[in-house]
Amino acid sequence: MFGLNRAKKTAAVIAATAAAAATALLSAPTAVAAPQPIVGGTTTTTTTYPFMMQITDASQNQFCGGTLVSATKVVTAAHCMVGETTSSVRVVGGRTYLNGTNGTVARVSKIWINPSYTDATNGDDVAVLTLSTSMPYTTASYVSSSQTGVYAAGTTARIIGWGTTSENGSSSNQLRTATVPTVSDTSCRSSYGSDYVATDMVCAGYTSGGVDTCQGDSGGPLLIGGVLAGITSWGEGCAEAGYPGVYTRLTTFSSLVTTQVNS
Ligand code: ARG
Repeated sequence: MFGLNRAKKTAAVIAATAAAAATALLSAPTAVAAPQPIVGGTTTTTTTYPFMMQITDASQNQFCGGTLVSATKVVTAAHCMVGETTSSVRVVGGRTYLNGTNGTVARVSKIWINPSYTDATNGDDVAVLTLSTSMPYTTASYVSSSQTGVYAAGTTARIIGWGTTSENGSSSNQLRTATVPTVSDTSCRSSYGSDYVATDMVCAGYTSGGVDTCQGDSGGPLLIGGVLAGITSWGEGCAEAGYPGVYTRLTTFSSLVTTQVNS
């Protein structure tokens, strides 16, 4: 497993230097998993999750997710924004289907990437986008720094995204969602070793796998009790037994995010 983790880190470094869509791909190719019906979820809509944003390139091709936390602020993953500029990205709200043309497209006037970010497996995987124009959608609230209890092992968390529906599959045209239980730090550390930074990350998934975020879901929300508590960050493959998804532990970065939201 550590060999795979090293391969993944290498892939992340390569991806970080590549173009928009490539920055979304963190995992190196691994053994092909059986196709699983995000993996293991169900279809949903941006009417149900109005704060769910597509992060796209200038041609409106989605490569990451984001969460609208105020009319002009979107929380996403730092690894999604590496190599991007305010002119290379768009945020699209109210568009359930990747091939849709509806909803609201906003330009980005500022990209804040957590200055401590280096690689998703080192933590600090959070970014905040400032939109040039307001999104007319209901926002999500996010955890405050004191709400560390929300991650108690076994708590039901909701994941949402347009990412691939199997480890080496293709993206979902329609938005998908699933629920996964949070995983204890001890358990996640035994899966990922020192790549799991408990202060900055939280894991979620079933021991047997089968339900997970996957490539293209990054930057999107992990909701606990309907509140943004995590950001889709990385994992070994997708939905593999013994390898839960890893999410940014937002309580750690809540104050930093608030500074950006109020800026
Ligand atoms: N890094 C991926 C992305 O950029 C997300 C991977 C999530 N992987 C997982 N097994 N939960 O879209």
